[in-house]
Amino acid sequence: MNDQARIAQLRQELHLHNHYYYVENAPRISDREFDELMTELIRLEALHPELADPNSPSVRVGSDLSNAFTQVRHAHPMLSLGNTYNRQEVENFYKRIQSDLQGEDFLISCELKFDGLSISLIYEDGQLIRAVTRGDGVMGDDVTDNVRTIKSIPLQLQGTDYPRQLEIRGEILLPWQSFNALNAQREAQGEPLFANPRNAASGTLKNKNSKVVAERNLDAYLYYIPNGENISDSHYESLQKARSWGFKVSGDMRCVSTLDEVFSFIEHWDTEREILPVATDGIVLKVDSLSQQKRLGNTSKSPRWAIAYKFAAERACTKLLEVTYQVGRTGAITPVANMAPVTLAGTVVKRASLHNENIIRQLDLHLGDMVYVEKAGEIIPQIVGVDTEHRAQKGAEAVRFITHCPDCGTKLVKYEDEAAYYCPNDSGCPTQLKGKIEHFISRDCMNIDSLGPETTDEYFQQGLIHTVADLYKIKVTDIAGADRSREVSARKIVTAIAKSREVGFERVLFALGIRFVGKVVARNIARHFRHIDALRTATLDQLLETEGVGKIIANSIISFFQNERNVELIENLKEAGLQFEIVETEKASDTLAGKSIVVSGTFTHHSREEYKALIEAHGGHNVGSISKKTAFLLAGENMGPAKLEKANSLNIRILSEKEFLEMIGEA
Ligand code: IVH
Repeated sequence: MNDQARIAQLRQELHLHNHYYYVENAPRISDREFDELMTELIRLEALHPELADPNSPSVRVGSDLSNAFTQVRHAHPMLSLGNTYNRQEVENFYKRIQSDLQGEDFLISCELKFDGLSISLIYEDGQLIRAVTRGDGVMGDDVTDNVRTIKSIPLQLQGTDYPRQLEIRGEILLPWQSFNALNAQREAQGEPLFANPRNAASGTLKNKNSKVVAERNLDAYLYYIPNGENISDSHYESLQKARSWGFKVSGDMRCVSTLDEVFSFIEHWDTEREILPVATDGIVLKVDSLSQQKRLGNTSKSPRWAIAYKFAAERACTKLLEVTYQVGRTGAITPVANMAPVTLAGTVVKRASLHNENIIRQLDLHLGDMVYVEKAGEIIPQIVGVDTEHRAQKGAEAVRFITHCPDCGTKLVKYEDEAAYYCPNDSGCPTQLKGKIEHFISRDCMNIDSLGPETTDEYFQQGLIHTVADLYKIKVTDIAGADRSREVSARKIVTAIAKSREVGFERVLFALGIRFVGKVVARNIARHFRHIDALRTATLDQLLETEGVGKIIANSIISFFQNERNVELIENLKEAGLQFEIVETEKASDTLAGKSIVVSGTFTHHSREEYKALIEAHGGHNVGSISKKTAFLLAGENMGPAKLEKANSLNIRILSEKEFLEMIGEA
């Protein structure tokens, strides 16, 4: 494969994995594998500046925005850190600093890398006025009310020598002890458990009820002052000052002057971290002098003067007993390793995902093998290697991927460019059918909340429903039978199903469960095409014009509509009264009446598709290319140079995001 094709492939893959991680909250690869793909992409992009793409995953810093909170822009973007995993990479970092500073002496501040969620705290005149999450690095959620409940965060600073305006950043954490107690309590109440303290801290901080937050004993360590020049030129010294103002600053940081000392710090904490009260996942190394930091500068993603060293995940060795196969809602077959129980990072592990056939092949798995299992962060345990020397006996049976669906017996298929096998029987395989119905009724889709997956499974077993369209035919008597006592709940269900007819096209589209079309993509597609028939007949190129849609998604949409059963299902749902077009919202104003407007680039307050909708709502017309008739160009970040040039040559006015929002009165 040539570099160009590989870059395209990596971008596509990283976009998908970003989506799994940030949108679906369900990563499918470890952070480390993600970083490896990203490193490869960054390396190839550096070799090929001509292939630059403003939307490449390499320039993106992920997002954790939630709608419940007001969004606030950070005064300085919240960058993340580059990762390293071994001594060599740490040494490379150190050598690069040496060479960039042209032999000048420097100190390195060695610190623990706390594994929680980052927070920016703003103080004015010593009073906490705002606390904002990292969000996408540019905008974050205002979680001040919740943060005020964290007892280790000072609401009023101590002493007198703090700056009048102070921003300080750090990590919010749920200590192990509180995490374990919280999970014990949840288990007793039959609630789902948090996978790790980071998820628990994040879930807690985003809770809309600050009382709940207060009860959870969150903690916070502070480790960075973005504008610290006025405090001291030394990062380390300014944090010591910050401690004197009442902040919790780790006592386990050291300022060192040699690479050997850096390594001793890393080695010490690799094992000692187990005794810490909070979760850590590595070490952070920072050039201590702020003036040197300034000279070293930042990339768009991370500072050049700092790096994270990630601890290797904990590992255990156990016996592989059996491989079983799960069928997902889209028919994807996931192999699962069943192993002899073993303790790993404090929990008993007996199952691990094997992801796909390639991984089984790469590992050369045989039944009865002794396998190494790792657990990194919240990720489900993974088999990372096999102890081939101890392979049980000659003639041990190699693991062979199944050829037929374990559920319906249909022969499995593989799609181009994909590692997974699929059961193609999407309109007959019981697990897929049930999965599709479960997805359809879920909260983010049709939100039929009086129906749970157990109930729909029951209806399915009884033959009452076969596809989601059958839901709309259910009558009270069908589900209550002659039993009067069940009538009340039956009525409730039928009413809830009927009410779902009001759900807008964007969510109906997501509810259809088209492979790779998640919530955000469904929304973009719905707004772009506005009507299901326009989407059904869209060409590959037209699909690719939609924000967030790449080849994988576009092809998946095309093949979805090539399946007659899907077309028939949509017809049935239309007949049932579901919404398959965007209902024009009332005109917000006539501010843009008669104006043709071109939108280009990426934005922070709304997506591009949302801007197009806003233009229409204010009476304007969104057009694709610039001409003499264009009233103005709404320009986001990283706009293509050709568009800019054309606008300038035709003397077309260029409006920034902010100016546009002011124009329509949304600023
Ligand atoms: S410094 C510009 N120091 O790690 C540098 N970050 O992967 C700002 N983190 O987003 C970060 N412990 O949430 C810094 N001692 C430490 C840290 C730390 C944990 C987190 C932080 C950051 C992430 C980067």
